[in-house]
Amino acid sequence: MKKVIAAVGCLFAVAAFSSAGLGAGEQADPGKLLVQTHCVKCHTLKRVKGKIGHADAKKWEELVTEMVGKGAQLTPDEQAAVVKFLAAQTSPAALD
Ligand code: HEC
Repeated sequence: MKKVIAAVGCLFAVAAFSSAGLGAGEQADPGKLLVQTHCVKCHTLKRVKGKIGHADAKKWEELVTEMVGKGAQLTPDEQAAVVKFLAAQTSPAALD
């Protein structure tokens, strides 16, 4: 249980840190911030947007795992946050 609390605290720390650079009013969803910072290192967000609404949670999990295999630097907790965020979106505009 302690481990879980530490992991959640870590996610919030990442979110708080990342959101410092965003405009006021920006939603600080940790998954969104992770996508916007990590998933643009090798390709644009257009690639990610193209799958929004077409991939379910299972498919996103596969895709994100594949991206980690290619070199995306995400911890297991961050991967889970990214998958959760992406699977919940129905429109590519969610990443604008
Ligand atoms: C280390 C480099 C790298 C990072 C970081 C990365 N990707 Fe990719 N991604 C690739 C490569 C390489 C491809 C395949 C070639 C291409 O389509 O440009 C790809 C393709 C994709 C595709 C298209 C797959 C398909 O079947 O059409 C999606 C969706 C995707 N990435 C999502 C993500 C997401 C979400 C993240 C962040 C979690 C991410 N990528 C981070 C390298 C990366």
